[in-house]
Amino acid sequence: MIKEGDTVWLKDKKNSFFVVLKKGEIFGTHKGNIPHDEIIGKNYGDTVKTHKGHEYILLKPTLYDIIMYGIKRKTQIIYPKDSAYITLKLGVTDGMKVLESGIGSGGLTIVMANAVKPNGKIYCYEREEKYIKNALENIKLAGLERYVETFNQDLSQPLPENEFDAAFIDVREPWLYIENIKKSLKNGSPVGFLVPTTNQVSMLLEELEKHKFINLEVMEILLRHYKPVPDRLRPEDRMIAHTGYLIFGRKI
Ligand SMILES: C[S@@+](CC[C@H](N)C(=O)[O-])C[C@H]1O[C@@H](n2cnc3c(N)ncnc32)[C@H](O)[C@@H]1O
Repeated sequence: MIKEGDTVWLKDKKNSFFVVLKKGEIFGTHKGNIPHDEIIGKNYGDTVKTHKGHEYILLKPTLYDIIMYGIKRKTQIIYPKDSAYITLKLGVTDGMKVLESGIGSGGLTIVMANAVKPNGKIYCYEREEKYIKNALENIKLAGLERYVETFNQDLSQPLPENEFDAAFIDVREPWLYIENIKKSLKNGSPVGFLVPTTNQVSMLLEELEKHKFINLEVMEILLRHYKPVPDRLRPEDRMIAHTGYLIFGRKI
C-alpha cells in the first residue's frame, strides 16, 4: 500500500511526475490537482484522477526511473549503465565509507548511497554550493539522504587521511588531486574516475602511475537499445554513443 513519505511516479501517455507524498498537500498538474491524501492508501498500479477528471497511473519508481526521468540535471550525470558498473567494480557495499567528488546532480551518489545502506555513507566533496543543494533534493527523491554527507570543498583542499574504503572522482582535472586522493584512501582501496576525452585519460594515467597505483584499467561501456517490435526486432536508429571513459586502480 502507498504510504506517506513514499516517492510515487504518476504517469499518463505523455507526462510523468515524481511526487514525495505528504498528508494535506496538493499536487498540481496542468490537467488539474490531486490531494496527496487521495494517493496515500492506494496500491501501486492503481489510478488516480485530478479534480478535472484526468487519470494518472501510480507506479513505484526504481532508482533507474528516478535517475533517468525524475532528478533535476544541473550538470552532466553519470548514467545507470556506468554507475551500476562503477558501484560493483569499487565493491561498494553496506558499512563502507566512500569518497565522491564532485556531487554534480547526485546521479552516481544515489546508486552508491543505496549500496552502502544501512551502515555506510558517501562523503561528497563539491566546490559549487548550488550543485550540492540540487543534488540533495535529488537524493531526497530517492529517499537516501541519510546515507550522504556533503562538503562544500574543492578537491585541492586536504581530505581526512586513511579514511575511505573506496573513491570515485568525476571532476574535469582529476590528475591535479591524485596525491590528496591517495592520502585519503586506506591502503589497498579501489578508486575510479570518469573523464570524457582520451587526452584526459592519458594525463590521469601518467599521474596514477607516478603515484604507484596498481591494477590500472581503462574502459567504456556502450549500451544499445532495441525497438521492442516483435516482428521487426532491430536496434534503435540512434544511441548515446559516448558518455565517458572509466579508469580504475588501487592504492598501494
Ligand atoms: C560532471 S559533474 C559530476 C556529476 C555526478 N557524477 C553525477 O552523476 O551527477 C562534475 C562536478 O564536479 C565538480 N567539481 C569540478 N572540479 C572540482 C573540484 N576541483 N573540487 C570539487 N568539485 C569539483 C563540479 O562543480 C561538478 O558539480
